Amino acid sequence: MICCALRWALLGAVTLEFLYQARTYYSQGSFPSFFYRDPVGARQPRAGPMTVQTPVTPLGSRAPTSTLQLFLGDLYGRDKTYQGSRCPSGIRKRIAGTKFSSIFLEAIPVLQWAQHALSAEYRRLQSYGGAHGWQDVGWPVVRDTLTRLNASANGRMFDARPGAAAGGSPCVRCAVVGNSGILNGSRAGAAIDQHDYVFRTNAALTKGFERDVGRRTSFYIFSTNTMMNSLHNYASNGFRQLPQTPETKYIFLPDHDRDYLLLQAALTNRPVNSGPDEGARPERYFGKDLRAEKFKMFHPDFIRYVRNRFLRSSILDTPLRRLYRPSTGAVMLLAALHTCDEVSAYGFITSNYQAYSDHYFDRTQKALLFYANHDLWLEMRLWQKLHQSRLITLYTRG
Ligand SMILES: *[C@@H]1O[C@H](CO)[C@@H](O)[C@H](O)[C@H]1NC(C)=O
Ligand SMILES: *[C@@H]1O[C@H](CO)[C@@H](O)[C@H](O)[C@H]1NC(C)=O
Repeated sequence: MICCALRWALLGAVTLEFLYQARTYYSQGSFPSFFYRDPVGARQPRAGPMTVQTPVTPLGSRAPTSTLQLFLGDLYGRDKTYQGSRCPSGIRKRIAGTKFSSIFLEAIPVLQWAQHALSAEYRRLQSYGGAHGWQDVGWPVVRDTLTRLNASANGRMFDARPGAAAGGSPCVRCAVVGNSGILNGSRAGAAIDQHDYVFRTNAALTKGFERDVGRRTSFYIFSTNTMMNSLHNYASNGFRQLPQTPETKYIFLPDHDRDYLLLQAALTNRPVNSGPDEGARPERYFGKDLRAEKFKMFHPDFIRYVRNRFLRSSILDTPLRRLYRPSTGAVMLLAALHTCDEVSAYGFITSNYQAYSDHYFDRTQKALLFYANHDLWLEMRLWQKLHQSRLITLYTRG
């Protein structure tokens, strides 16, 4: 029971923030957007470290089914890009025999790009807020940003690999690296770098930690908000710029209009022209190479699908459902599950998380913090189940 009392206290704190924001934004005359401001912002109230390990039981009474179904929107576009894998033992071949086969959608769109810049698509996705749709971003901004994502690399996760054509393995092997303290002292760096692609997120520090986390970054995954918070909060740990190597591609998890605006700025090589980041220069974050092929953006259908089918938290059954989304790391790992043939997950939350510091780069031991807008217990159980089903290999330091 203590877990739920704590959980409610936490949700209560968020409600206060929420009411405060409602008042602020309402008085500014932009009421509809207040729900979605800064779900993981620095101003978000943080819960103290939780000591409870049991899963949280469902909270409250269910909203009327029709309202909830409309909110969830479990209907998606289609994208067949990842159905043609020639890997004989790939995840998509293995999933059929697991309990995940009933929720997995073969043709779920993972990325959005120029082909999605359609007014009919805008009308469809306008129904969903935050990272789950286009409710919080105007059509001219969506259209202009996505239209510029017109390189073939914008529409698929991986470019053709020379090795595969030359008789190498047709299987795409991915290392997906979270930032958990379990990696401190792991010596997993060489194994991570040996994968075809290395995914990282937020405060993705490698310098000085190569032995434990590796040095390569093929994909850096972020929301503008979480990325800027990481630069702010972990500068003293050495995180002063994003990974910027020739192989690095940047994948936006769009959460607000500010993600579309920063991407638009990058693709036009101009400072951000409006919103909270007005004046920000894209080369500060992404370096000088701002070609369209350096960038990708997750499709809101993918985020909504992940929330609805893989991480359907009990928070969705409460009035605070609008604040909830899967964590950036969770979207990263599930994107790898939907695009790679083999996935090794390092630095993700495990059941013995209390034995480790929050991050591998912490200078002193810090407890993992649980935010009310994510459900890390649910994520932890999902990683365990995917590992037990042999769909991913979860690094547990066992
Ligand atoms: C992509 O869009 C840019 C404008 O952003 C344009 O200059 C370029 O020709 C387009 N490329 C293709 C392949 O359509
Ligand atoms: C990282 O590991 C070292 C060696 O095991 C240990 O001394 C240190 O306390 C750890 N750092 C944190 C922040 O837990």
